[in-house]
Amino acid sequence: MTASLSSGVSAKPAPEAFRWGAASAAYQVEGAFAADGKGRSVWDHYLDDLDLAGPGMSGAVAINFYDRTQYLKDIALMKQIGLTSYRFSISWPRIIPDGVGPANPAAIAHYRQFIADLKAAGIQPMLTLYHWDMPLSLARAGGWENRASIEWFRHYADVIFYNFHDQVDLYVLVNEPLVERAMKQLAEQRMAGGKATFAIVPPASELPGALRTFNHLLLASAAAKKSFDAKGYPGRLGVALPLFPTLTAQRASPADRKAAQLADGVMNRWFLDAMYKGSYPADVLDAVASLGGDIDVQPGDAAAIHAADFDYLGINFYSPLFIRRPAGAAANGYAAEMFIPEGVYAAYNGAVRPDQFTALLDRIRVEYGNPPVFITENGAGFPGDDEMIDGAVNDRKRCRYLVDHIGAMKSAMAKGADVRGYHVWSSHDNLEWLFGYGSRFGMIHVDFNTQKRTPKLSAGIYSQIIRGKAVSAASCERPS
Ligand code: GAL
Repeated sequence: MTASLSSGVSAKPAPEAFRWGAASAAYQVEGAFAADGKGRSVWDHYLDDLDLAGPGMSGAVAINFYDRTQYLKDIALMKQIGLTSYRFSISWPRIIPDGVGPANPAAIAHYRQFIADLKAAGIQPMLTLYHWDMPLSLARAGGWENRASIEWFRHYADVIFYNFHDQVDLYVLVNEPLVERAMKQLAEQRMAGGKATFAIVPPASELPGALRTFNHLLLASAAAKKSFDAKGYPGRLGVALPLFPTLTAQRASPADRKAAQLADGVMNRWFLDAMYKGSYPADVLDAVASLGGDIDVQPGDAAAIHAADFDYLGINFYSPLFIRRPAGAAANGYAAEMFIPEGVYAAYNGAVRPDQFTALLDRIRVEYGNPPVFITENGAGFPGDDEMIDGAVNDRKRCRYLVDHIGAMKSAMAKGADVRGYHVWSSHDNLEWLFGYGSRFGMIHVDFNTQKRTPKLSAGIYSQIIRGKAVSAASCERPS
């Protein structure tokens, strides 16, 4: 696909400048695992105590981004690329080390300085409150499965709003409940020592627990939004959802198609219907009822989520998911699994299909009332794409992925999708959760031994896009 990117970003004049950004998350970049009185998170426990990402794999240093000397150099690189927006997350166990007790002034001071430094470089902050690093004490108390998590999060959010409302006006309340849950399941399987599968579509045995946590996460976000609004702070709040268009194989059976429909219900409609229609999808409720298990959806929950009236929808898009009914599954009821058909071109996070990005944005416009959207993550990593040769990293596959997906976004905008900004995942190579440091996603290469940074080919192309130059996927063949 060739994207013409030289003209303005929207046919309709946007009420604000389009935000061109990149994203990261605290645990994946910060390191400094005990600095300034930080408490422990469930991720410190997974990697450092239990070795769940492999022996010695740790976030204790990561890309050293908590260190001001280091991050000032990184901000300078981001400014050089031309970013106008940076989406980063605040670590809950830094701000409230035990999860629910008093706030930690040293951590607040750190992030206030970081935000001031970003803004001094002309980069607007997009602050994520929760990107998976749950305080360990709260994880041990049941985490998001415990309905009390709504109140834990509201308290933490109030601390954030109180301390940052004069600096920040764009917030992501929570990131990707669905993928966080899949990571937790993978962690638990690795702890148990048996077969471990990263199943983004929850298997039947996990569905009730998954829906229970999704409901609590949405209610927690709604409670935080209500509290923010009641204080009269200026700013926009939303939730970042990983939305996955569902596809089936060419010769799919009716059972496969039904599985894909239900997977769409669990991964996409569960969240979108609650937020924009005030109800949970009936087919998913029916499917989970037949499985038993307490999903803790109480009367009025979906209506409360709808009433929160989030200011924008955050979309993390990587790929569609091919879905089928697992072999041997009983004829009726919920059973769905993801797979990649033979011959399909895929990145670490699935099939590369920019057309499905356009289709997704069309769907949000048509089926969900065209809310303001921020693309909170989009990006890719490919085996072998990030090799340093003669001091340069020509990540052609990532470069093409970005050009094609930005083109796909612009196609949807030309049809009226109300997209206000776009963030590449990620600015830098970083710690990819349970997959360690092997899966790189950055536009800036990081040598994890020396912390040396090297902007890649993709950073150069993104810079040209931001500056309004016409580029196409072919531009990725001619490293500058
Ligand atoms: C997302 C997640 C990010 C990052 C990315 C790349 O699901 O929010 O933290 O890991 O995937 O796989």
